[in-house]
Amino acid sequence: MNPRYAENISGIDALANILTQATSVVVATGAGVSAESGIPTFRDPQDGLWSRYRPQDLATPEAFARDPVTVWNWYQWRRQRLARVAPNAGHFALAHLERILPSFRLITQNVDGLHAAAGNQEILELHGNIRRNRCSREGTVSDWMPSESDKLPTCPDCRAPLRPDVVWFGESLDPTLLRRAVEAAGRADVFLSVGTSALVEPAASLGRHADSHGAMIAEINPERTPLTDLADIFIQGKSGEVLPRLMRRVLAILEE
Ligand code: OAD
Repeated sequence: MNPRYAENISGIDALANILTQATSVVVATGAGVSAESGIPTFRDPQDGLWSRYRPQDLATPEAFARDPVTVWNWYQWRRQRLARVAPNAGHFALAHLERILPSFRLITQNVDGLHAAAGNQEILELHGNIRRNRCSREGTVSDWMPSESDKLPTCPDCRAPLRPDVVWFGESLDPTLLRRAVEAAGRADVFLSVGTSALVEPAASLGRHADSHGAMIAEINPERTPLTDLADIFIQGKSGEVLPRLMRRVLAILEE
């Protein structure tokens, strides 16, 4: 057997055991969780969004003020791609874990809405949700989508430009959401990071915060990240493969 594979099996077993004994589990996800649904991550050197586009042109308030049509079109393009994809086995495994573990909190940096589509009920979407829009002046949020032909849609109430309800570089996260995420990480006895490069703040600090409050840190990722050295368990692999195996092992232990 490939030694890496054997190592992953023991990592999955160990993590499953710990999860069944934990009183507070926090799972924090990033773009890697949706990679197997066909959505590119941001920092993959081949097809990552930020290897093909410049975030400063598309994901900042300054870019939107300068050229709202280009920014809006880019988000429409991403929405069109999203309309053709579905949650993968990793998303479904997390939804299952939420149902079977007594205290489970999901925090995500993803804006794609795939955790909700898979069935997770309680999700802290730190970077917003691309399926919603927000008035750029009044901040009113809605899931109303303008027609495809509308190149510069405006708020139906005040006529200010509409923007996607996501957090851009240079913007603050919703303080209530962030506070809830920090509190959950501080209370966690297990903090599991899945499919994030752990590079973007403040989400990147949640794992360190959990660690400094005594949580066991676990990570699932094909690559090492800045969190890996802190992790008690690092399972090197794809979330769509590792999470279903982890979920089945948790289920088996609970049914023993
Ligand atoms: P990144 O693109 O920075 O990182 C994706 C991570 O997923 C990497 O660590 C990959 O190794 C890992 N990965 C790739 N395929 C995977 C798979 N099948 N299973 C598990 N992991 C896999 O994405 P994020 O960390 O989510 O913010 O990026 C954080 C934020 O930076 C995003 O929310 C976005 C971006 O700029 C904003 O737009 C504000």
